[in-house]
Amino acid sequence: MNNTNIIEAVDNKFNQLFNQKPLLVRSPGRVNIIGEHTDYNEGFVLPAAIDKAIYIAIGKRDDDTISLYTNEFAEEHQSSLNNLEPSEQHWANYVLGVADQLQSRGYKIGGFNLVFDGDIPIGAGMSSSAAVECATAFGLNEIFNLNIPTIELVEISQKAEHSFAGVLCGIMDQFASMFGKRDNLIKLDCRSLAYEYVPLKLDGIKILLLNTNVKHSLASSEYNTRRLQCTEGVAMIKDFYPDVNSLRDVTMPMLDQYVKPKDDIIYKRCKYVLEENTRLLQAAEDLKKGQIESLGKRMFLSHEGLKNEYEVSCAELDFLVDFVSNEDAVLGARMMGGGFGGCTINLVKEEAINDLVERAGKVYAEKMNKELTAYVSQIGDGTSLID
Ligand code: GLA
Repeated sequence: MNNTNIIEAVDNKFNQLFNQKPLLVRSPGRVNIIGEHTDYNEGFVLPAAIDKAIYIAIGKRDDDTISLYTNEFAEEHQSSLNNLEPSEQHWANYVLGVADQLQSRGYKIGGFNLVFDGDIPIGAGMSSSAAVECATAFGLNEIFNLNIPTIELVEISQKAEHSFAGVLCGIMDQFASMFGKRDNLIKLDCRSLAYEYVPLKLDGIKILLLNTNVKHSLASSEYNTRRLQCTEGVAMIKDFYPDVNSLRDVTMPMLDQYVKPKDDIIYKRCKYVLEENTRLLQAAEDLKKGQIESLGKRMFLSHEGLKNEYEVSCAELDFLVDFVSNEDAVLGARMMGGGFGGCTINLVKEEAINDLVERAGKVYAEKMNKELTAYVSQIGDGTSLID
């Protein structure tokens, strides 16, 4: 599943810039079958690593400089380890944030050179930023012999996103990128971080991503607002149930009694999260029993909730889900990831994919005046070294 052209280009650029032999790391993007906006509410998610990835070349320096280059934008960046701050070059922040996290946890690192590129479309909700963070954390752990457990590398990557990219994300993307396993979904309990691999047996059905090719500017601010609204919901209940610490501890009767009368919007947000968690647990059972049709229906319901209750969808995503909802070959579809753009994830009978993509592309161009891009995702392994 490696993209050898990109790896070669990254390796060559590294040699050309730094005249040094690098360590090469691959870190994948992710899909999520169901369980959206549940991770930071200590709920469950069902993601998987995919065949699209970020590739980095990394090597030590003997000073305190971090020297970065991205083939994707043909841009370079330099910072000093002694003075790490978020940069206006957004792509650099995913690397700098990780270095900063390592240092603030007391890990000794020195300066380093890093070149990266990848084939995860940016802004498509497939977690290219988490992949850069995970690749960096993994690479730095190797070159500086830090012996950090993988789960801590995941947490470091997540916190890098909080502190240097300003998005208060949950743990799903970084976890999936690190712990992905070929042909398996990960059923992750975001409270205990206990996880289970669920084999993905789809028999003639494929995971099709339809990229709206939009990323609305409110994506990160609205994301943080949703997170806050969930916390506020929990606080309203905590007054009466001191043991309640997250929406994971909350039941529908509690919401009806203590949140509904106080705040309609917060009620809708919390209700969605509770429903989505239930849907996910049922979906995982569907998968184990091979009941893909039933799983698909839950995906459509998930989209309804994201659109009407959590309100993180957008016209383009709704259009695409609506378009496929009458197609016999499409078992399930919904928006994927944070929302306000990016992709829909669809379960589609293999033989119908080409025709569907062609028709959807035409209508999408007509109605939304934008180009549609489609990817059939293979489920692959998590972050690793490249030999
Ligand atoms: C983004 C975040 C994740 C998760 C999803 C929504 O991808 O990075 O942590 O919250 O949105 O499910």
